[in-house]
Amino acid sequence: MRAIRIVTASLVAAALSVPLAWPGLATPQDGGQHAERGTLRAAAPRGLVIGSAAAGGGHHLDQPYPDPFTSDREYRRLLGSEFSSVSPENQMKWDFVHPERDRYEFGAADAIVAFAAERRQVVRGHTLLWHSQNPAWLEEGDFSAEELRSILREHVTTVVGRYRGRVQQWDVANEIFDDTGALRTQENIWLRELGPGIVADVFRWAHRADPRAQLFFNDYNVESVNAKSDAYFALITDLRAQRVPVHGFSVQAHLSTRYGFPADLRDNLQRFDDLGLATAVTELDVRMDLPESGVPTAEQLAQQADYYRRTLQACLDVEGCRSFTIWGFTDKYSWVPVFFEGEGSATVMREDFSRKPAYHALRRTLHEARRR
Ligand code: G3I
Repeated sequence: MRAIRIVTASLVAAALSVPLAWPGLATPQDGGQHAERGTLRAAAPRGLVIGSAAAGGGHHLDQPYPDPFTSDREYRRLLGSEFSSVSPENQMKWDFVHPERDRYEFGAADAIVAFAAERRQVVRGHTLLWHSQNPAWLEEGDFSAEELRSILREHVTTVVGRYRGRVQQWDVANEIFDDTGALRTQENIWLRELGPGIVADVFRWAHRADPRAQLFFNDYNVESVNAKSDAYFALITDLRAQRVPVHGFSVQAHLSTRYGFPADLRDNLQRFDDLGLATAVTELDVRMDLPESGVPTAEQLAQQADYYRRTLQACLDVEGCRSFTIWGFTDKYSWVPVFFEGEGSATVMREDFSRKPAYHALRRTLHEARRR
């Protein structure tokens, strides 16, 4: 009996512990031949990966350019040389990988995972349980609760299992709370049809499919201590007490210079770190209101650089914040102008890939942290 308890306890401890040094790659940020001098990944301190979304799917499908990831050579070169982590922007989402009930489409996701492996990059998987970008067959289907549960379980097991050992962090649950801190029980098909208990199950299924992957909650507007981040804090505390394998909490950080910088970002990350969780910045960009000319002023670019720098510094200041990702690195493919009329210039490079002050601010901040 005692022996069984010890074995159980150590299995639970293994499930809950945060594998900070990911065993898949010893020092992915070093990148060997891929870490060209003067790049973000080369400047990063040991143990911190610097990521970008890999553009494709989603809003790109409506734009007058071919698939960025496969077609734009300069884009691919920079994605490979500047970063040590990549996140499929849309290519692992439900509507992309699971277009019909009995059909998966893994071509684009496979290509990103292979690209990353060749360049000694890690991958952030995005995402498994979300209210958005679900296929019509799922949202409009007439399924019983039992069928939905088995559809979700099969999806999680198949997708996570396919990339077992090759995804460092998974955004298991994405945006499950609204800004008041209430669960999105109407919009989110899983919460609506299966109840809040499904969240713990998805983490358990994902952990079973890939025991080495770090499993995250991910959301926007949770950079500060507020009703929404408080809701995550309470939920995660509760799930950890139940020994559900939750390993991380991440802030998307879609920021805007219209609003003040979330000055308590570091403190907010730290309180999750104190719970024993990994933390991460997963989708940083900083949009702004563009002047008539469409070209940002020097002041705007300086303010943007300051927001990028402070977000990175907050992550650097928290021990378990080991993954820092920007939601695309060039304005050429940014989602921002498509979603926010009159706003743009949210990334660190212009459309022609020339570097903005924000890029230099990131590199300088990384470099300083590396030398410390
Ligand atoms: O689903 C419709 C489809 O029915 C329609 O035919 C088609 C034509 O316009 O549009 C489809 O919706 C698109 C959707 O992706 C699904 O492919 C939207 O127009 C498109 O704007 C959307 O863009 C993606 C967006 O997520 C969806 O929320 C962006 O490319 C992607 O960058 C963005 O990424 C999210 C993260 O996953 C989570 N955090 C926020 C972040 C920014 O929104």
